[in-house]
Amino acid sequence: MDRSVVVGIDTSCDETSVGIVNPRGRMLANIVSSQASVFARYGGVVPEMAAREHMSRIRGVYRAALDAGHVYPEQVAGIAVTRGPGLSGCLGIGIAFAKGLGVGLDVPVVGVDHVEGHIYAAFLAYPELTPPFGYLVASGGHTQIGVFEKEGSIRVLGETRDDAAGEALDKGAKLLGFPYPGGPALDKVGMEVLRPLGVAFPRPCIPGKPLSFSFSGLKTALAFYLERTRGDAPISELAQTAGAAYLDAVLESLVKRVFRLTEQASLRTFVVCGGVAASRRLRQMLQEQAVFKGLTVRILFPPPDLCTDNGAMIARAGLVWLGKGHDETDTLDIPR
Ligand code: KG4
Ligand code: ZN
Repeated sequence: MDRSVVVGIDTSCDETSVGIVNPRGRMLANIVSSQASVFARYGGVVPEMAAREHMSRIRGVYRAALDAGHVYPEQVAGIAVTRGPGLSGCLGIGIAFAKGLGVGLDVPVVGVDHVEGHIYAAFLAYPELTPPFGYLVASGGHTQIGVFEKEGSIRVLGETRDDAAGEALDKGAKLLGFPYPGGPALDKVGMEVLRPLGVAFPRPCIPGKPLSFSFSGLKTALAFYLERTRGDAPISELAQTAGAAYLDAVLESLVKRVFRLTEQASLRTFVVCGGVAASRRLRQMLQEQAVFKGLTVRILFPPPDLCTDNGAMIARAGLVWLGKGHDETDTLDIPR
C-alpha cells in the first residue's frame, strides 16, 4: 500500500479536528468536533477544560477521519499539526498525539502555523489558485493581512494590535446578550436588519500603519452606548440595531484594509479566510465595495466550514513542509 496521504491535526482552541489530504492537495476527510456547546454556558472558552475535551476526543476524531476518507493508517505519509498560536494546553494535546502517531506509523511530523494554515483552506476550495495573492485571516484569535507570495512564503503586512476581529464580535455579542460564540448571531442580525440604526461606532485606525487593526476601542464604545441607552429601548431591540451597527463597524475595518492592500499592491486575487470570513455580511460588503470601487479583483472565500478551524487546512499546509523533507518529531514543542 502506497504511503501518500497527509493527516492534519488542529487543537488550537475549542475544536478538535483531523483532516486528510491526498498528495495533490485534494481533501479526503475533514472531521471537526466542536466544543462550543460545552462553553456556551461559560460565555467563552475555559482553556483547561478545552484541553481535557481535546484529550478525550482526539482519538475518536482521528478514527472518524480515516473512516470518512477510506484511508488505512498504512497509507499515511506524514502528519501535520498546529504548532501555534493558540491555547498552549490545547496545542500540547494535538502535538503530543501527532508525535505519538508519527512514531507509531514511522512517518515524519511537521508543525504548521495556525494563521498561515487558515490561508491554505483556500487551496482546498480552489485547487487552481495561483500565488501571489492578497490574504486576510480574520478569526477569533487573529487578524492578519498580507501577501501570499508562494507556497511556504507569506509577507505579513498588518496585524491587530489588540483584540482580533472575531474576538471583538464575540465580546460585543456578549454585551448585547447573545450566547457564545456571538459572531454568527451578530452576522444573522446584520443580514436581517435592513439598515442599522444611526449608531455611530468608531472606525479605529493607527496613524502611520494603514494596514494594522485595532478593535478594543470599539468594544468600549459599545459598552458606553449600552450604558447610555439601556433604559430607553428594550434590550432585544437594541441587540438588533446596535448589534448590526457594531458588526458593520468591525467588518468595515476589514473591508477597508482589503481594498487598501489590493490597490497598493495591484492585486488581482484576494483570499479572505478565518472564522469571521464565514460571515455572510462580510461577503456582501466586500462584493458591494468591489463594484462600487470599480475593481476587478477576484475575492475568494473558502466555504464556511473551511473558514473556521479545521484539520484539513493544516494537512494542506503540511504538504508543503513535508514536501521539503522536514521532520520535527524531536523538536516540536508547546509555545511558551
Ligand atoms: O478561525 P476560527 O474558527 O477560530 C480561531 O482561530 O480563532 O474563528 C472563530 C471566530 C469566532 O470569533 C466566531 O465568532 C467567528 O469566527 N465566526 C463568525 C461566523 N462564524 C464564526 N463571525 C461572523 N459570522 C460568522 N458566520
Ligand atoms: Zn483559527
